[in-house]
Amino acid sequence: MRISYLFLLLLLFSTMTVLDANRIVNGVPIDIREAPWQVSIQKYGFHFCGGSILSSQIIVTAAHCLINMDAKTLSIRAGSRFWKNGGQVMKVAKIKAHDGFSPKKYLNDIALMRLARPLKLGPLAQKIELPTSVPSDGSGASVSGWGLLKAESRERPTILQAVKLRIMDYRKCQKTKYGQNGYLISRQMICASLNSNDACQGDSGGPLVSRKRLVGIVSWGKGCASLGFPGVYTNVAYYLKWISTEIKKLTNC
Ligand code: ARG
Repeated sequence: MRISYLFLLLLLFSTMTVLDANRIVNGVPIDIREAPWQVSIQKYGFHFCGGSILSSQIIVTAAHCLINMDAKTLSIRAGSRFWKNGGQVMKVAKIKAHDGFSPKKYLNDIALMRLARPLKLGPLAQKIELPTSVPSDGSGASVSGWGLLKAESRERPTILQAVKLRIMDYRKCQKTKYGQNGYLISRQMICASLNSNDACQGDSGGPLVSRKRLVGIVSWGKGCASLGFPGVYTNVAYYLKWISTEIKKLTNC
């Protein structure tokens, strides 16, 4: 009798925490005006990765989002806090993933897309500036996306979520549990964490922003918000040359 009571209580408790989960790995729902550079990348109309607006026709995302993808099946939604509706939907004309992307080490996890037609930029859909240098350790930052609210959950938020983080230098990050477990954090990466805040599956390709500049792209992590394992991001400042060269190539054809 007592045991079953305890079981019931436990059940009640677990459903309560599930219902309470409108906050992700600790995030909060935001208005698109707070991250107007954020886009949802979709295949046959379903969200699978995030991206950021660099100009009316260029989106930056993670290479691992686009491997084996055909541009013809892709579209993006900009200017809406809902991945499912509102804002502007644009088809993708061309994709360019970094040739050096390695699925094993997650090196060079960066890619660009050219849209079929330009977005109408405004307060709801805005480009984000690139960084001029690698952000310093400890800087405040935030990440946004429609990714999972928890590593184990299967529910996806319909409203864009964001969470505050602190930048961690790649050397420091190498000394976390990543290093102790044989993961390699290279200088092409940057880490970010704060308490149990993190990005998660489905946030990939999305923006890590510090001082209104795109300093990182959601790339990988061990689980989501696992203790001792910060989120790992593509270090955008490392790719400034690659970005400008590839944008030129994408725009000239
Ligand atoms: N690779 C994941 C994706 O495809 C993103 C993982 C980010 N994980 C993290 N713990 N920060 O959506």
